Amino acid sequence: MSVLSFDRVSKVFRSSLIGRHLYTLGPVSFEVEQGEIFGYLGPNGAGKTTTVKLALGLLRASSGSITCFGRQSTSPEIRSRIGFLPEHPYFYQHLSAIELLEFYGSVCGIKKKPLRRRAEKLLHATGLTEFRHTTLSTFSKGMLQRMGLAQALINDPDIIMLDEPLSGLDPVGRREIRDLILQQKSRGKTVFFSSHILQDVERICDRVGILSQGKILQVATIAEVRLGTTRCVEIQVDGLDMGKAAALGLGEVTKRGEKIVISLTPDADVNRAVGVLLASGAKISAVIPQRQTLEDYFMSQVQSPVGEPEDEKSRIQRVLQTTG
Ligand SMILES: Nc1ncnc2c1ncn2[C@@H]1O[C@H](COP(=O)(O)OP(=O)(O)O)[C@@H](O)[C@H]1O
Ligand SMILES: [Mg+2]
Repeated sequence: MSVLSFDRVSKVFRSSLIGRHLYTLGPVSFEVEQGEIFGYLGPNGAGKTTTVKLALGLLRASSGSITCFGRQSTSPEIRSRIGFLPEHPYFYQHLSAIELLEFYGSVCGIKKKPLRRRAEKLLHATGLTEFRHTTLSTFSKGMLQRMGLAQALINDPDIIMLDEPLSGLDPVGRREIRDLILQQKSRGKTVFFSSHILQDVERICDRVGILSQGKILQVATIAEVRLGTTRCVEIQVDGLDMGKAAALGLGEVTKRGEKIVISLTPDADVNRAVGVLLASGAKISAVIPQRQTLEDYFMSQVQSPVGEPEDEKSRIQRVLQTTG
């Protein structure tokens, strides 16, 4: 079942001063399914935050339709089922961690006693229990991000919209946030997660949508992206020197530590290559197919979109035609 659906949605920003179109998003179409972590990948300025704001009803689309749980995301019943972590969360610095959560919970209409229980539970889940009475002005970037996630979860939402939740965090902070996102998934929740950090998306997302210059280039499962192509097959050998290995003409030869690595093209006959190597006295220590990573995939999609590249002016004209 689809939880969030964008159907040919576009957004045109116009400058009221000079009357020019500044930026256009879309039209974009995608569906986020129940219980999945959907990664929304794109370089800076691609339109990720604009998409999130459209989904939340903070911006109005110029055309197309957006539904959340089959209804308009702006309706109060639907809003109460959505959690949101903005790209640059700003919290009132003089509140303590528990005060902040109790404030947001009361805005969501949660009663005092269950709210206290929920706030304590979230502080525990985000590792902030010992800082419950500490003012936020002393929090590090990572602690504030965890605070932001706790805030986004205060109403126990069914879908969580996270705008660049891992940016600016150190590896430990990134891991903590990733684990919290995975915990939500294990509870059957749906997560929409925008990022330009490819490795983190690759680790936790079920599917990715790749956005570049306001257009979705592709929506694919991580497995599809990984299995899409084998970049090369590496054969690691001992007992052969670089010159001899190169003379066999099997593929590119490099040295990695003590090992010689021969990289075969994806369509090469691996059995034949192994036979040739064994016959020349080499000892095979590993045969490793090197899969395309999400990063390779992302770069190939962003650098060479299908068809002729479109300039900004014709893109704006095309979007305006569809928006009427
Ligand atoms: N309110 C606005 N008015 C005009 N242009 C905007 C507005 N908000 C965003 N933009 C432009 O839209 C483009 C996409 O922005 P954004 O959605 O923030 O990208 P991302 O989050 O992927 O970095 C940028 O070129 C940005 O300058
Ligand atoms: Mg952004």
